[in-house]
Amino acid sequence: MRANLLSSLASAIVLGACVLPPVSPTPGQASAATTPTPSSSAASAPESTPAPARLATRMRFPATFPHGFTAYERVDDDRGATVQQRYANAAAWQAARAGLALPAGSILLVVTHAAAKDPASGQPQRDADGRLVPGAVRGYAGMESQPSWGEAIPAPLRNGDWHYALFDAERRVRESVDQAECLACHRPRAADGFVFTLQALRAAAQR
Ligand code: HEC
Repeated sequence: MRANLLSSLASAIVLGACVLPPVSPTPGQASAATTPTPSSSAASAPESTPAPARLATRMRFPATFPHGFTAYERVDDDRGATVQQRYANAAAWQAARAGLALPAGSILLVVTHAAAKDPASGQPQRDADGRLVPGAVRGYAGMESQPSWGEAIPAPLRNGDWHYALFDAERRVRESVDQAECLACHRPRAADGFVFTLQALRAAAQR
């Protein structure tokens, strides 16, 4: 029970944190936007303070998606009018089926859809079972494990060899996202290979 409560609290947080993180401009961009600098003073301006190093991700959108991926969990959010579907690639799926740790080559991808709306009423559409109907893709959150990727991550944040990324609806990686946030929140799940939904993935794969 306690674990369920904690994980649902975490879920409530992550609907914002995981999928639609605040996009904070870097200090450089912020000052450029607010104080247009005449070129004369730009020349004499002190070196701008470098932005804190971002932990760049090596993950790119899996080119074949959805081919080779299996959906393992779906979450409807009535209030946010979104449908999330979680997918695993073949490497992750096969390991989960065998009850093994997810190996190098594993990719998990969460797709967030806007709930489709009835054009006439503007209300969310429902299927025969009363569930929301997934509409346009809003974006993607992914994690991928590849040999030695973890070496680029400082030890206190390292999640094995996982890297994390967000992608926009056109599947472009959102370079402004700092995966340090992702790593920090997933790290306490080390016992589950840093995967919050490992049990759901195993249950689906072993069905
Ligand atoms: C505040 C904590 C938190 C942060 C920050 C966070 N996540 Fe998650 N993530 C979760 C939780 C909790 C889940 C389980 C599903 C759910 O409840 O939404 C999850 C699930 C996932 C999953 C599905 C696999 C799994 O672990 O269950 C992916 C992929 C993912 N997150 C990627 C990311 C990425 C990319 C970022 C950074 C941009 C990120 N997460 C940041 C908490 C977090």
